[in-house]
Amino acid sequence: MNANPPLPSLSRALPVTPPMSTTIKSAIKSLVAVLGIEYAFYRIYRLDLTQDQQGPEQTLPPGYSNCTVDASTLKNAKDALIRDQAWYGGSEALGFAVLRDGDPVCVQWIWHGDRYRTKRGFWPLEACEAKSVQLVTVEAERGRGLATQIKQFSAGQLKQLGFERIYSRIWWSNAASIRVSEKSGWIFNSWVGLVRIGKGRRSLKIIVNKNSKGLAVPRRKWIDVSLADASID
Ligand SMILES: CC(C)(COP(=O)(O)OP(=O)(O)OC[C@H]1O[C@@H](n2cnc3c(N)ncnc32)[C@H](O)[C@@H]1OP(=O)(O)O)[C@@H](O)C(=O)NCCC(=O)NCCS
Repeated sequence: MNANPPLPSLSRALPVTPPMSTTIKSAIKSLVAVLGIEYAFYRIYRLDLTQDQQGPEQTLPPGYSNCTVDASTLKNAKDALIRDQAWYGGSEALGFAVLRDGDPVCVQWIWHGDRYRTKRGFWPLEACEAKSVQLVTVEAERGRGLATQIKQFSAGQLKQLGFERIYSRIWWSNAASIRVSEKSGWIFNSWVGLVRIGKGRRSLKIIVNKNSKGLAVPRRKWIDVSLADASID
């Protein structure tokens, strides 16, 4: 028999008090759930195609290439994540991909015109503007510069098509996507917060413009508060 049984570990013996910030966060989460509040918080980035601000050119590793794509190419991709992006194709949709040995492993979709206005309409677009609506790299290929390269490639293609500006919407804490935008020369334009209480169909939309110098007059307002029909997605 063991005369000296092991002491209980300190973490089991002492009650653990969560840090104050964790307690406050979970209290806010509970309140938000009880009140039926839904919220979303995004950063808007933009690239002015009339200016040369794409950042240092990102090259692709050997064996990779880029191209424009349509939905049918993506439907045949090996990775399910890429096949899932095929639905973005169609009218007023421009697709770009990085291929590895001919197979798409990184995809960007850009919408413009009525397609964007009627199907998403989150950000106002002028005729010469477009919106990046999806950017994804398969998990095994991340961190190799593919998304940065495809954003630089698509920007060049849109410029040739006569577009003057592209926007993108990024979840406020999506560090990888923010980094990709900055590496490819995009600039931070605005914060957008959406709040919906209960089951109402309208959301309170708050836009704080940080960097809209030189844009159309309505967007120069520092803060813009409106009721939006758009659902919180
Ligand atoms: C965002 C995404 C497309 C980036 O693709 P990628 O091909 O890995 O991008 P790149 O290799 O060009 O650049 C990624 C950069 O983000 C950095 N990064 C990745 N995760 C990060 C994190 N958690 N925090 C900070 N930086 C991060 C990488 O280090 C790299 O920067 P570096 O070159 O300075 O080291 C990819 O992570 C993805 O598909 N995510 C899920 C879908 C998504 O969030 N899409 C964006 C919607 S707005």
